[in-house]
Amino acid sequence: MESQVLLDLKDVNKVFGQNHVLKNINLQIERGKFITFLGPSGCGKTTLLRSIAGFYTVDQGEVWIDGKVVNDLPPYKRGTPMVFQEYALFPHMTVFDNVAYGLDIKKRPEAEVQQRVKAALAQVKLTGLEERYPHEMSGGQQQRVAMARALVMNSPIILLDEPLSNLDAKLREEVRVELRGIQQELGLTVIYVTHDQLEALSMSDYIVVFNKGKIDQYGTPHEIYYKPRTRYVADFIGTTNFIDGVVERQEGNMATVAYGKGRKATIPTDGLWSTGEKIILSVRPESLRMNPPEAYDFYMKGKVQSSMFLGEKERYFILDDEGKEWIVDAYDIGHISYEGEVTFAATADKIHMMKAEEN
Ligand SMILES: Nc1ncnc2c1ncn2[C@@H]1O[C@H](COP(=O)(O)OP(=O)(O)OP(=O)(O)O)[C@@H](O)[C@H]1O
Ligand SMILES: [Mg+2]
Repeated sequence: MESQVLLDLKDVNKVFGQNHVLKNINLQIERGKFITFLGPSGCGKTTLLRSIAGFYTVDQGEVWIDGKVVNDLPPYKRGTPMVFQEYALFPHMTVFDNVAYGLDIKKRPEAEVQQRVKAALAQVKLTGLEERYPHEMSGGQQQRVAMARALVMNSPIILLDEPLSNLDAKLREEVRVELRGIQQELGLTVIYVTHDQLEALSMSDYIVVFNKGKIDQYGTPHEIYYKPRTRYVADFIGTTNFIDGVVERQEGNMATVAYGKGRKATIPTDGLWSTGEKIILSVRPESLRMNPPEAYDFYMKGKVQSSMFLGEKERYFILDDEGKEWIVDAYDIGHISYEGEVTFAATADKIHMMKAEEN
């Protein structure tokens, strides 16, 4: 049976001069998945993508594609076309010729080129626009031409480096949906680079979160959001509140932790914790309830410092009675607004525990 693993990175390292940019990258990517590389500027996303495509050779480790080590293969023999941020269409060539370019280089017969280019353009819904030039098309259409260029090569993996960053917000969202649609319809394996968290959460089967040249976490969007492995991941993906704590005991998958000044909560966890272990709790602003009528396991008291109207929610900045700042989001509140002394609380299942030492 064909292995499900299409791309296998083993201990990949890349160094530029004194700059150790990729540090022991280990990653397995399955066929037919949409994978996003996410991380701040300079963390090594493009470097890893270029190392997979063959534009850089790695200094240590192995890059396996489809069961073969490709370390010594040039880009055109790896079958991993890359769509760059600026999507690099040839301005003086028609859409047809842009898409046909890779096949022409390979000197495929004319009839085959015709047929494959037509099929690729149909896949990205650009049939009928073959004779247009790039400047006669919208940014989103140009993006689709770039995709067709990759598709026409029948490549096992398509690498996209921030392909939507030139588009305005609304079009970006549209092309995002289209791109994900094409990937799912055709069962493509796509690696997509972005530093936009929402883009990563909304498009991906799996997200790889990079932290200074290392992988901090590899998981589904839900895992990354609700079960961040490190403080860095929790902080990078959306907004959250952190509070230090200590494990008192664990019984099965419930851990009792002490936090703040003498507060305690019993929290569900799938980790294994030892008594006295230092931890960090993370609670998302949307998981906290303002002035809840019923008793909650995890609660705080504080004073509203300021608030911000964000349309679907009001965001409150609160100083608790121990001097710590919190962010609490209140949804669907109509005309209610909170001022002065408040309590805020979360159910225990909304609280996530992380090791303090990993952070
Ligand atoms: N060809 C190169 N020569 C020397 N240093 C490089 C080269 N390419 C990248 N770097 C360095 O490697 C580090 C990672 O760069 P990289 O382009 O991979 O980051 P990135 O995560 O893609 O960032 P961005 O989100 O800004 O695109 C940076 O410190 C960068 O300066
Ligand atoms: Mg980059």
